[in-house]
Amino acid sequence: MAEPKKLFIRTYGCQMNVYDSERMAEAMGAEGYVATDRPEDADMILLNTCHIREKAAEKVYSELGRLKPLKAANPDLKIGVTGCVAQAEGAEIMRRQPAVDMVVGPQSYHRLPVMARGGVEAGLEEDKFEHLPARSRAARAPAAFLTVQEGCDKFCAFCVVPYTRGAEVSRPAERVLAEARDLVARGVREITLLGQNVNAYHGAGPDGEWSLARLIRELAKIDGLDRIRFTTSHPNDMNDDLIAAHGAEPKLMPYLHLPVQSGSDRILKAMNRKHSAEGYLRLIERLRAARPDILISGDLIVGFPGETEEDFEATMELVRAVEYGQCYSFKYSARPGTPAAERDPVPAAVADARLQRLQALLAEQQRAAQEAMVGREVSVLFEKPGRAPGQMAGKSEHLHAVHVTDPALRAGDLARVRITASARNSLAGEIAH
Ligand code: SAH
Ligand code: SF4
Ligand code: F3S
Repeated sequence: MAEPKKLFIRTYGCQMNVYDSERMAEAMGAEGYVATDRPEDADMILLNTCHIREKAAEKVYSELGRLKPLKAANPDLKIGVTGCVAQAEGAEIMRRQPAVDMVVGPQSYHRLPVMARGGVEAGLEEDKFEHLPARSRAARAPAAFLTVQEGCDKFCAFCVVPYTRGAEVSRPAERVLAEARDLVARGVREITLLGQNVNAYHGAGPDGEWSLARLIRELAKIDGLDRIRFTTSHPNDMNDDLIAAHGAEPKLMPYLHLPVQSGSDRILKAMNRKHSAEGYLRLIERLRAARPDILISGDLIVGFPGETEEDFEATMELVRAVEYGQCYSFKYSARPGTPAAERDPVPAAVADARLQRLQALLAEQQRAAQEAMVGREVSVLFEKPGRAPGQMAGKSEHLHAVHVTDPALRAGDLARVRITASARNSLAGEIAH
């Protein structure tokens, strides 16, 4: 029998790309491809790309340069570029790097199998969801992503997502529930609902439109599903129902990623964010009233065009007021086609210095949040072996990485753990008996 063809996928960017890569691997599995983690063995290589910042987009071209020689060794090798760079730059990618055979945007992944059979073309037309075969009986890791909403209509002045992922679309509730049940049947105990604006979810349900809160309540009824998370949310779509769910639904984890981007109202306005710093702080207060131990995470951009020292201080002030358990921070990157790219930039050295100050503050807050866990008993879903012999790695309800050395532990175990120490990016503990 002939060897099965091998597929190598490298994934960049956000969790939605991770989810899409899994779906593409499943779709190509139906075509007889098996996954490999060695590009040099592959018959097909897919780079699932990200366009959010310049650095992310440029990585693709350097990676393609490295992969190109593999084509000399294997003339049948097909190289494809998928994801947000594919959508943003289209066939231009093939001109810049002729080794590329296919360019497929996020709305066209269902066409991948056909293209792999022989189509050497760019497929960028609009056609979303429900086309990739999602069902398979293969066992899955205990924690999985599930896309419920894609695209964005918010048009923040710095952001490419409304262009690369298109207009906001919610998947019908029944499809989401069916996919969740299928995941649980395959061993999944924790599901993270994904969407660029996941809390704007408004999928068709059997009795009218469902909100994200409603979807979460229905998902929580699935036996064997123990944990529910969702990401990423926009402050303006954080409605009462969803805030209340954090207090009322035990399966909804006490962690919320709620990006604010800046603490300066002047900059928020220039970013077209349509919320104020004060409004954001009030939301955090209400979330903490609903679920006192909720861990707040976020995203911040420094050096947005026009940002003064005073604006930056307002961001530092907001961060001090929120006390993030975890937060991502980025130096503004001008993206072609976005309104902010037309504006005068903040000098790079100024932005770098601000980013350093902000990151020092955020690192301190993250350290404090982790240290506060020492001595406490937390519930941990174990996902995979750790680096040390007999060690297992998992996630706490607050999404802290937790390591426990105990030979009896298996991936998929949900156990009570007493936290004994806090390291740089993880906690250590022992099973509580
Ligand atoms: N949909 C999510 C996340 C979008 S991208 C949201 O609305 O929050 C993830 C993060 O990348 C953003 O929250 C933002 O902080 C950052 N980001 C987006 N565009 C950027 C740019 N041009 N420069 C720097 N950071 C950017
Ligand atoms: Fe980008 Fe803003 Fe949409 Fe988030 S809400 S994806 S930052 S445009
Ligand atoms: Fe990047 Fe596209 Fe996600 S630009 S962050 S991969 S939606």
